[in-house]
Amino acid sequence: MSGIASTSDETLLELRSVAVGVAREAGDMLADRAGQVEVAATKSSPTDVVTEMDRRAEELIRARILATRPADAILGEEGGQTGDADGAPVRWVIDPLDGTVNYLYGLHDWAVSIAAEVGWEEGGEVGRKIVAGAVFVPMRGEMFSAIRGHGAFLRAGDESWNPLHCRPGVPLDQALIGTGFGYLAARRKVQGEVVAALLPRIRDIRRIGVASVDLCAIAAGRLDGFYERGLNYWDWAAGALVAAESGAVVGGLNGAPVSSSMTVAAGPGLFGPLTDALAALDPERDA
Ligand code: IPD
Ligand code: CA
Ligand code: CA
Repeated sequence: MSGIASTSDETLLELRSVAVGVAREAGDMLADRAGQVEVAATKSSPTDVVTEMDRRAEELIRARILATRPADAILGEEGGQTGDADGAPVRWVIDPLDGTVNYLYGLHDWAVSIAAEVGWEEGGEVGRKIVAGAVFVPMRGEMFSAIRGHGAFLRAGDESWNPLHCRPGVPLDQALIGTGFGYLAARRKVQGEVVAALLPRIRDIRRIGVASVDLCAIAAGRLDGFYERGLNYWDWAAGALVAAESGAVVGGLNGAPVSSSMTVAAGPGLFGPLTDALAALDPERDA
């Protein structure tokens, strides 16, 4: 049997330790230049930007991971897929700088997100799952981490790891919900309609600007739920594990698994009403 079923606790701890160490080093490098960089290029739209620091952070993360684990594969936002995605013992899924627009403007919520994915085989089903991850928020001195089956944790500054538990049983009309908007106008138009229809039914909306941190905020009890249409795998890979390991439900709409089409996370008791409310708004479409 391959995959997590045969991945020892020792290996899981090692993967978390690599993710945490590398996220810290990249985050510290990024923090030195926060709010002082220019746009280097645009990607999917004129407002989807990349800076020289996104690229430098990913180069550093790749070099550090491969120095300790040369046989692993990597999927990174800036460098794409390297190595054998299915055959490598571990594939790392990295967003070297999540929240680039916040970083550019000198806002404090941006993060380095690193997740470790392994093969999975259970009951005849074969797939891949994220088993360890780290989300580092340098300007707040906060390191979030999770190990599948072993919980979610927050280390603030030099403190030790504190276990995280999401808020359970928050009714929809009391829920503080995070969301985000994509870079394409046709998608944002629908996202605006969906949020306008949801807003009268909940406590309030937050748009923090960094999906990995939104997901960790659920684990820390700072948000009750989160949804976003159109995230990339690297945006949610580590944060979704942190949310799930804190006790939150993570998935898509109408029983679908979490995906880039729709990423939803919420405490138990809220996930059902939130996904029902969202599904009725047909949010997985573009104008
Ligand atoms: C973005 C952020 C943002 C989310 C976007 C993402 P980037 O990532 O996570 O919160 O709303 O969908 O693309 O471009 O800053 O790495
Ligand atoms: Ca991102
Ligand atoms: Ca990014």
